[in-house]
Amino acid sequence: MRRSQILTLAGLGTLAGGIAAAVAVLLPWLPSPASREAGRIDFVFWFVTVICIVIFAIVIAALLYSIINFRAAPDDDSDGPPTHGHTGLEIWWTLIPTLLVTAIGVVSAIVLAKDDRVGKNYLHVNVTAQQFAWSFTYPSGKNMTTGVLRVPVNKSLLLTFTSKDVIHSFWVPQWGQKQDTVPGIHPTLHITPDKVGRYPIICTELCGLGHATMRTWAIVMTQAAFDKWLKGQSAATSSSNTAVSGKAVFTNNGCGACHTLSAAGATAKVGPDLDKLPQWATQAKQPLQQFVQTSITDPNAYVQPGFPKNVMPMTFKSLPKDQLDALVQYLIQSSKKG
Ligand code: CUA
Repeated sequence: MRRSQILTLAGLGTLAGGIAAAVAVLLPWLPSPASREAGRIDFVFWFVTVICIVIFAIVIAALLYSIINFRAAPDDDSDGPPTHGHTGLEIWWTLIPTLLVTAIGVVSAIVLAKDDRVGKNYLHVNVTAQQFAWSFTYPSGKNMTTGVLRVPVNKSLLLTFTSKDVIHSFWVPQWGQKQDTVPGIHPTLHITPDKVGRYPIICTELCGLGHATMRTWAIVMTQAAFDKWLKGQSAATSSSNTAVSGKAVFTNNGCGACHTLSAAGATAKVGPDLDKLPQWATQAKQPLQQFVQTSITDPNAYVQPGFPKNVMPMTFKSLPKDQLDALVQYLIQSSKKG
């Protein structure tokens, strides 16, 4: 090969690699990681991306060079010269990809093993998914349950998942991992949040009509703020055992993901507007209390005109009686106010 040919190839390769590198670096493809695991996953992503950019540059250089220099004349219908294989080239283009793919495999395996290592000192949270809400139970906080996930920063977090109905999937983009929640099994996910902040929790598996509304927040706090919050919440939980708060039942069961209820600050429109319950009960020709209770425990018995059947989950008939009563009273009082 002549010196000028090598220079042309190198120039084309640099151009192609430069454009690919700019597309990779300048566009925000990934959210900035907020967990140690996400940081490692990003490393694998960039490791693979750099390899891809180098190979892309070489391939594009050879392709463009060939298109420019070896193009047949428009009226040239003759066959090309016969060529044989090139043993040296074939050894190299087998050996190099083998080494690269093996390296990617080894790096990925190390990151997977590290990301799964929970260690001894971790916070355990049980995550329950149902159409169309998330709830979080803290075994270390007297099994207190919330609708927003609060966790301390820089501490291992072990999430154990339960689904009450269909397959959902837990995803916090900044934490870099997803986990399907599958009815009948209890998968786990290990995360070490390393930045204080507020991150969206998204259901990323199509789970029904309210799938898009199945969102909440993960709030990462300092250890001190978290301890204070957990202590306050679990004290409130144990002192209110005798008087269950209907609002807490509403929030923890995710009713606000589908319904509007001003008293709870809920504005969703998947299901009927709960501020207008007295009006709907009259329309259904049922006493208000009976109407509200049946709509929760047996949602298909009467469906509000204009809304489809089988969207309201059937799972609420398993609510403990005190919680159900509190919820019914809360809805009746809130809707009368509204
Ligand atoms: Cu739950 Cu989508």
